[in-house]
Amino acid sequence: VPLRSLNTFGIDACAPRLVEVDDADALPGLLASGLLGDAATPAMVLGGGSNLLFAGDPDRTLLRLCGQRIDIVDDSDPTQVRVRAEAGVEWHALVMWSLAQGLGGLENLALIPGTVGAAPIQNIGAYGVEVGERIVVVEAFNRDDGALARLDHDACAFAYRDSRFKRAPDREIVTAVEFALSRHAQPRLGYAGLGEELAAMGITTPSPTDVGEAVIRLRRRKLPDPARIGNAGSFFKNPLVATAQAQALLADHPDLPLYPAGDPGRRKLSAAWLIEACGWKGHRDGDAGVSAGHALVLVNHGDASGLQLLELAVRIRDSVRARFGVALEPEPRIVGAAWPA
Ligand code: EPU
Repeated sequence: VPLRSLNTFGIDACAPRLVEVDDADALPGLLASGLLGDAATPAMVLGGGSNLLFAGDPDRTLLRLCGQRIDIVDDSDPTQVRVRAEAGVEWHALVMWSLAQGLGGLENLALIPGTVGAAPIQNIGAYGVEVGERIVVVEAFNRDDGALARLDHDACAFAYRDSRFKRAPDREIVTAVEFALSRHAQPRLGYAGLGEELAAMGITTPSPTDVGEAVIRLRRRKLPDPARIGNAGSFFKNPLVATAQAQALLADHPDLPLYPAGDPGRRKLSAAWLIEACGWKGHRDGDAGVSAGHALVLVNHGDASGLQLLELAVRIRDSVRARFGVALEPEPRIVGAAWPA
């Protein structure tokens, strides 16, 4: 199966087989039939293909969940509404649907590529909000016992770009997600640039839809559109380092951006800043490159192979480590090759 149109990097890889499933209730039967591989080579779930790099051809079956339902499952609470969406729903379509219903909570996450099923896996986040804050239940099919389980918020173990699903990617298959959305606007405007964007739009008391619109404008301006130039968003996570190390770096580099890490002993650094400081912004090796607009985004200018992009990422990682003593880790899942130590 050719994969070029199934990954936003536009990598020309090939998979042995692709299984598409509309109804999650079919999963136990498919597992029993062997169509989803075995314990040694389990089928790999493919969402929107927007957070992975095919550095080689996958050696296993790919599985896509295609369920498209969005339902309000509980509207008895005067402040919150419970919404359930199936894994195959496009993430941004769910955000726009929720805004059209007058429900807030997902607007800071507008325009993130990918599917609902992928959202909890790396706990997608942007503009000061992480999706885990809004998730009450993840429905997932457990391959070990062949049962569909409802995992509550705490069981999902959400952290910055992390969750139980990311830590054990082959154990569960996310089939649907339930969100608690708000009937009353509680805009979260703390992230640098968001308030300014709304002010530039002439808006002083923003509705969730206004915030979503501001986020869309910011993303369109800063991030390359994968429909026009292949990319997977941020290629590296923003590194968390010990506060003492962050302060030592700040003493040498007064303009280094530092963010709280949700833990007083650590600070979050800007990977984009570190990469730009090493001179990589706009760099190009053949068709593998670093976006000229955002240093954290690797881009495929046309016919780069996944391996070329991986090699570029490793060189970036090594140069940031040599200059700043900080280890960058990739954000997307790398398939078909290992991320070298
Ligand atoms: N910066 C640079 N050079 C650049 C770009 C940015 O030095 O080329 C510095 C600037 O100081 C800027 C700071 O980095 O103020 C932060 O930049 P930005 O607001 O673009 O955010 P980010 O930390 O680079 C993170 C997420 C993005 C998310 C934005 C907005 C990660 C790995 N990335 O990027 O998520 O959209 O914040 O909230 O946490 C993604 O995960 O794929 C993604 C795009």
